[in-house]
Amino acid sequence: MARAQRFEVAPNPCVAAALVRGGRVLANAVHSAWGGLHAEAALLRELADRRIAVEDGDELFVTLEPCSSHGKQPPCVDALVAARVRRVVVGATDPDSRHRGRGLEALAAHGIDVELMQGAAPLERVAPHFLSWTGAERVRRPRPWLIAKWAQTRTGQLQPPEDVGAGRWITSPPALEEVQILRARVDAILTGVGTVLADDPRLTVRRPVEAPCAPLRVVLDSELRTPPDARLFHPLADGESGGRVHVFCLAGAAPARHRALESAGAIVHGCFPDRNGRLSLREVLGQLWSLGVRRALLEAGPTLQTAFLEQEFVDQVRVYTGAVNGGRGASLGHVLQSAAWRERLDRDVGTDSVLEAFRTLA
Ligand SMILES: NC(=O)c1ccc[n+]([C@@H]2O[C@H](COP(=O)([O-])OP(=O)(O)OC[C@H]3O[C@@H](n4cnc5c(N)ncnc54)[C@H](OP(=O)(O)O)[C@@H]3O)[C@@H](O)[C@H]2O)c1
Repeated sequence: MARAQRFEVAPNPCVAAALVRGGRVLANAVHSAWGGLHAEAALLRELADRRIAVEDGDELFVTLEPCSSHGKQPPCVDALVAARVRRVVVGATDPDSRHRGRGLEALAAHGIDVELMQGAAPLERVAPHFLSWTGAERVRRPRPWLIAKWAQTRTGQLQPPEDVGAGRWITSPPALEEVQILRARVDAILTGVGTVLADDPRLTVRRPVEAPCAPLRVVLDSELRTPPDARLFHPLADGESGGRVHVFCLAGAAPARHRALESAGAIVHGCFPDRNGRLSLREVLGQLWSLGVRRALLEAGPTLQTAFLEQEFVDQVRVYTGAVNGGRGASLGHVLQSAAWRERLDRDVGTDSVLEAFRTLA
């Protein structure tokens, strides 16, 4: 149950919880969306909805040690204590050395009987992505979890033929709606100036989908070619949510255009070049981390997608292949094939097919 949600919750771990009475599962729940209710809280809500009170002999089973600190959600330990759960059986401890064992200690300190099952739900099997997210190297040099999403034609190209989808749209309405949901569950949406100049996108979340916190809109634009009258800077419509526009350029680039973009409402950040003289993607990601971005969505054209993929900054992909023959521009087929992907899932939405996967640990 937990693993079925892996692409929705990453970089969070996949977690499920169940209340067991006399050896029978009374109710169960999962952590189903990044930033959303944790499995334990979802289970307690399910019990409340069904008017099931926790009894003394009940056991609560959970994949991973309950959290004891505040993140996007309040600590599950507090919720379990308040619900008067008497016994908790845990499948694995938190691999993050800053939290490991704390949740179990906090439960025990409240008189809750805690059992850690050995080898019942190894994270290598249940949530290997969470091991890379909490690994020493990632913690030492933090950067947001990056989901690269693009739509391609049957030939793998990111632009349809000119006479299809107004020369821009490749996928069907159900896929476009899914992307709105994905946008609502990230802290930032990134694109390149090539896409801004070609498509003039808004990068917003639109009704009926609602974003708990409007994602920042981020443009990578070395020389500040983003037009100050781009639609990114137009006022938000009713039912539309979008965060501040952040433009990343090479430090010292085009002072007059810098001022014009700030007047339009952008926050402009200067970055060092990488060794090829391009905007350093590592620095952009580092600055986004400092702005509080933890999960980000890359919705760029082939140039920037290739740069992020080749430099191994992409953690997860979601690729929509539309029912469109032919196309224009570069294909990302070669990078998709050369990178190592795992836990691949292929599914259909509307008339499109979708590939989801995590990048294999280096
Ligand atoms: N099918 C889809 O999912 C999808 C999504 C988005 C766009 N598109 C299509 O893609 C086309 C635009 O493609 P594109 O490749 O020009 O756009 P892009 O990848 O969005 O933007 C490319 C630009 O990003 C800038 N950039 C900044 N830092 C970079 C770095 N470190 N490495 C590489 N580039 C960096 C470069 O301009 P500077 O050198 O000036 O900084 C580069 O030209 C449009 O036709 C659009 O419709 C399709």
